[in-house]
This record gives sequence, C-alpha cells and structure tokens, in this order.
Amino acid sequence: MEFLKSKMDVAGYDKLVSLGNAKLNEFVLETAQLCKPDSIYLCNGSKAEYDTIMQEMVDSGLATPLAKKENSFLFRSDPSDVARVEKRTYIACENEEDAGPTNNWIHPDELKSEMTKLYDGCMAGRTMYVIPYSMGPIGSPIAKIGVEITDSGYVTCNMHIMTRVGDKVLDILGSDGEFIPCLHSVGKPLAEGESDNGIWPCASMDDKYISHFTDEAKIWSYGSGYGGNALLGKKCLALRIASVMAKKEGWMAEHMLILRLTNPEGRQYHVAAAFPSACGKTNLAMLQSKVEGWKVECIGDDIAWMKIGDDGKLYAINPEAGFFGVAPGTNNATNPMAMASCSKNSIFTNCLLTDDGDVWWEDGDGPCEHGIDWKGNEWTPASGEKGAHPNARFTAPAAQCPSICPDWENPAGVPIDLFIFGGRRTSVVPLVTQALDWDHGVYMGATAASEPTAAALDVKAQLRRDPFAMLPFCAYNMGDYWLSLIHN
Ligand code: SPV
Ligand code: MN
Repeated sequence: MEFLKSKMDVAGYDKLVSLGNAKLNEFVLETAQLCKPDSIYLCNGSKAEYDTIMQEMVDSGLATPLAKKENSFLFRSDPSDVARVEKRTYIACENEEDAGPTNNWIHPDELKSEMTKLYDGCMAGRTMYVIPYSMGPIGSPIAKIGVEITDSGYVTCNMHIMTRVGDKVLDILGSDGEFIPCLHSVGKPLAEGESDNGIWPCASMDDKYISHFTDEAKIWSYGSGYGGNALLGKKCLALRIASVMAKKEGWMAEHMLILRLTNPEGRQYHVAAAFPSACGKTNLAMLQSKVEGWKVECIGDDIAWMKIGDDGKLYAINPEAGFFGVAPGTNNATNPMAMASCSKNSIFTNCLLTDDGDVWWEDGDGPCEHGIDWKGNEWTPASGEKGAHPNARFTAPAAQCPSICPDWENPAGVPIDLFIFGGRRTSVVPLVTQALDWDHGVYMGATAASEPTAAALDVKAQLRRDPFAMLPFCAYNMGDYWLSLIHN
C-alpha cells in the first residue's frame, strides 16, 4: 500500500489501511499498478460524493442537468455502446463442460493474458473509483458484497442508485470479510492533457470484454460503459456469478421480478416472473390493480435471489436498490409507477432532450416537436430517426416507486407462491396458459421463446428460445439448471 501513497493521490487511503482487509488492499494495489490511474477514490456512499462526481461530469460536458426533473441528469452514450453485447460476454472456467453449450467459454489463462494487455495503463488520465457495495439489504444473510473498481463516474453514480454503496458496506466487510472483486474500465486511456470533451468513452467492439471467472468468483469488464456491461452488480454479479454460487450452495439467482398481490380478504400472494430483457418485467412488477379490492405492490423488477427457508417455503429477495428500466414505451398509461419512480434523483441514458430541459422518448407521454436526439443531433418528428434509442434507460431509486412494497428490503424475503414464465410473442401462442403440474411448468419455462428486443445489441434471431429468461445469464451448464429443477 505504501506504493500507492508515493505514486498517486489516494482519497480513502487511511480508511483502507485501518480496515486492514488484506484481499481488498491487494485488489486496489494490483489494479492501480496495472491500470495506472491518475488518482484513486474510495467511495463512502454519501449524497455529497454523488453530487461531486455528477457535477464533474456536468462540467466536462458528459452529463446534462434536466431543468424539469429535480436532481436528474441525461447522458448520451457512444452509438456503439448502447446495450449488452452477448458475443463479447465470456464465461471462463477450467472445464468447458461447466459453462455448457449456451455460453461463450474461454480458458481463464487465455482470457487473463488477453485482458491484462488491455488493462495495462488503461486508466491513464482518469480517477480510479473503488466502490464497496452490497447486493441485498446490508447485513442480510442472503446479501453478497462486491467491490467494483471503475474509471467511470457514470458507473459510480449509477451504482449509487442500483446498489447499496459505501462505508456501511465496509463496516460489514471488516478485516476478513469476503467480497466479489469486479474490475471495470471504459477502455479509453487519456494522453497527457487530453479530456473526453463530453464524448462517452469506450473501446471498439473487438476490444470489449465482459468476463466472468466463475471458478474464483471474479469479474473483469473492459471497453463498455453501458448498463449490464458496466454496472457489474447487476447481470455479472447478481445473475452470472450468483447463479454459479447458488448452484453450489443450493439456492437460486433468477432473472425475475417479484411482486405482492393482496386479495380483498387481505391474503397475500407473492409472484416471481421471468421474462427476457425488455419484455415487460418492469411494467408487470409495477402493475396497478383494476380489479376491485385487489392490491399489487412491487418488490423488484429484474432479479430475484431465492432460498428455501426453515419452514420449507421458497423465500425471495430483490438484491438491487434501483430500477434500470427501458424508457421507450414507458408512460403514464403503461406504467405510472415507473414514471413517478424516475421523476427526480434519476439518471437518463440515450433519451431525447426537450427544449424545456426534460427527457422524452418514443411512446412516452405525448408528442415532441423538437429536441436533441440521443446521438446529440437536432431532432423533429420529420427527422425519420428515433429521438431516443430503443434501449434508452432510466436509473431510478426503488424507494421512489409509489407502489413499492413495505417488505421490499426485508432481509428474510417474501414467500413465493407462483411463477410466471413469459416473453414477447405477438402471434401463435395463447396469452396465458397454466401448467398442469411442476414438471409441466419446468418444461414450459425451459422451452419459452421470445421475439428479439433492443436490450442486447447482437441478438438477431426472429424467435429466440430463452429458457427461464436466463439464456444470457446462467453462467453454468443449462442442462444442469433443468436437471436441478426436475429433481427437486
Ligand atoms: C437486461 O438486459 O436484462 C437488463 C438491462 O436488465 S442490462 O442491465 O443492461 O442488462
Ligand atoms: Mn434484465
């Protein structure tokens, strides 16, 4: 650690030393030596920290404050960096068989040697943020701690909303606590005196890697700053790495929303529903009942961690703290709860900027006559192009959802009564079908298919089989996934 102090400005150095977590110190030191940032900043999770980092991005031209939404900001990404890239997403483990036929497998030694070359000096001219975060309520027995090191302020602010960040996580971590190391770089080192000039930094497609070392539970991401490629708590930790841990430890990490349904007699039911990306999980999770006397409350809109309790019931928690929702199509008719969730303290990415300082997107609330589109160009309806990218997103605190369930942060979770498996199908299949029994339900989940969405850049098939909506997220052999469900 002395090396760091002599080489660069380290905010949080004394805290790291006094905490004395050898694994954390080694992670910070080794990353700094390899990536060679200008300075290091250990995140404490405070509002002041968020405000300072955001203001720096406003000053540098990367973020636009929105006059119409309190404490909210718009970012425009690079047109090559607008969604997850499944072809550049890797599962690296000793045995190819463990990754199975649905994943891009690569030997860890080969991947590490390729990526180490890219990481060498990649943070030049930038601050290296160290983000201790918890997936799940802090201190919950089901929660997991991650530490993301990133050279992106955008990622740091998004992590503040999507996860629980900072000192309170370090307090739980202590000197000998375990965490999942997550290394992220936008892959755009700066020369002496160079700045981004308000342009979204990222690397070319062939240099993007979203890598999961599943044998040792660690994540290396390079070259993309967008969503699930870069906010490593979400798809990388809470689904891919967690799916492997869950398989070993006998629990489940699933691409599912969680909601509570209460009937007129006050009886509660809890639903977990798996749909592929951008197929309506957020809308279903935030449903408002039109049936007299029934109530729907949201617990989570994307990920469920589930474990069998002492009473034999299956309990689910939402490991996230925010929503990273698809903006186009969201409006006060389709999802008023989402609109309220992102009405303040939110980050918008690749939406259109209106002339009065608000965000707009296709199939939102009403038309827009003029604005700046997601590529930064002047836009009118006659432009013939989308004003917002189809995978434009809002990042909003879950606590701001008016229909958030009082138990959404209950560390014990909620008992699941039923599963829904769905997808985007505009033809042929019935709207709703009920499984005859558990095995039939497993069959239906395993054979579910969906039309493509904009959430993954490189998926072109007209109809994609997406078992349990986990095709891009199950980091082990999909055959083992099915077997575990049939035998239990
Ligand atoms: C998804 O694609 O399933 C998402 C968005 O939830 S992202 O975090 O970008 O993966
Ligand atoms: Mn998702």
